[in-house]
Amino acid sequence: MLGGRPARSNDDTSNLSPLAMTDESHSTSDLLEIGRAHNSPTYAPADLVMDHGEGVYMYDREGHSYLDLLAGIAVNCLGYNHPRLTEALREQTQRCLHVSNLFFSGEQIELLEALTERCFGDRAFLCNAGTEAVEAGLKLARRYQKVVAEEPERVEIVSMKKSFHGRTMGAITATGQPKYHEGFAPMLPGFKYADFNDIDDLERHVDEQTAAVLLEPVQGEGGIRPADEGFLEDVRDLCDERGALLMFDEVQAGIGRTGSLFAYQRYGVTPDIMSLAKGLGGGFPIGAMTATAETFEGWTTGSHASTFGGNPMASVAARTVLEVIDEENLTQNALERGQQLRSELESIAESYDVIEEVRGRGLMLGMQCTDKSSASAIVDACLEEGVIVNTAGGDTIRLVPPLILSAEDVEEGARRLHRGLERWQDAH
Ligand SMILES: Cc1ncc(COP(=O)(O)O)c(C=O)c1O
Repeated sequence: MLGGRPARSNDDTSNLSPLAMTDESHSTSDLLEIGRAHNSPTYAPADLVMDHGEGVYMYDREGHSYLDLLAGIAVNCLGYNHPRLTEALREQTQRCLHVSNLFFSGEQIELLEALTERCFGDRAFLCNAGTEAVEAGLKLARRYQKVVAEEPERVEIVSMKKSFHGRTMGAITATGQPKYHEGFAPMLPGFKYADFNDIDDLERHVDEQTAAVLLEPVQGEGGIRPADEGFLEDVRDLCDERGALLMFDEVQAGIGRTGSLFAYQRYGVTPDIMSLAKGLGGGFPIGAMTATAETFEGWTTGSHASTFGGNPMASVAARTVLEVIDEENLTQNALERGQQLRSELESIAESYDVIEEVRGRGLMLGMQCTDKSSASAIVDACLEEGVIVNTAGGDTIRLVPPLILSAEDVEEGARRLHRGLERWQDAH
């Protein structure tokens, strides 16, 4: 196995991948300069140019290896270059890239069947990313209340503080974190925010104007915060009592990550609507909003649409991901490797006072630090040691690795994380 990434040095070739990019026409620093000049200023990428991946490792164009405990932010659930996924996509490129929604494609139908037979949803709206899946769910909830329940006054969405649901105007309004709203006012009307894991506070917000309660069973961007046992059951009961729909945003927690294919299955609480994306395509962009047949009665032809939604490439990717998760028993692996990784993180937390708490479910784990600047400095130090993690909620180090992680990968990851923390400590 290739070693950790050394402190940057141009003549050190000890951990170069044989697949390192050979195109010398641009130096990495030239490329970075061009990228920084022309990329949207909304991103602040590290001083690296990534080249390719294999298994759970990413390689930069100079061939340094990075054990990816972030999986492209909970996306690359089968790791990199999984032979089944790569082959399915390669074959599909030779058949057809796009079919409009004026027609079915066989690939789309197979995905619709594969998805709905694995979850509570009877139908699914296919789109391209998590934000779109959330927007679709919000639109479905409002239309259901107006058209099916015939309660047109039910237009409000109650979401949770510290939540994250995406970046379009509807999705950021639903996001219960003021920092995402800054500079974009006015937010959309009809949204309220309740404290996560506090049923009494939620009760104060849900009334005869509520269309739906929206929440992440495990909050991701808010800092890897799982719903408490019992909270989701109470939310389900409250929604049923008061006539509101329940929508789970499983864009980050879904697709095997928490140890069941969908997080709601682990909690034993079924929503009416669910949004999915990230891991669904294993790296190929796709989102989906699924719901019961009754909820979907709110929509008719033309209620909503997406040009690229359900295209055959994305459909093939998602169907392959769902099949491989079953065949390779990756939900069980997420549980077992999640347990192993969690105990490694707990032992790291015992060694370094800067880590205050380890929390999460399955392979969706967070290490809460004492403060934001330490968390981000530790993430940088870990990258220097060849392991990719990031921060969520500012002060929490997030780990959402590929579901194919092996026991040896966990051990190697723990070694690199230890080295990262040592590097950070030496610099402080
Ligand atoms: C829970 C949740 N919902 C929605 C989104 C938005 O997804 P996307 O960036 O694919 O639009 C994210 C992204 O991090 C997310 O974590």
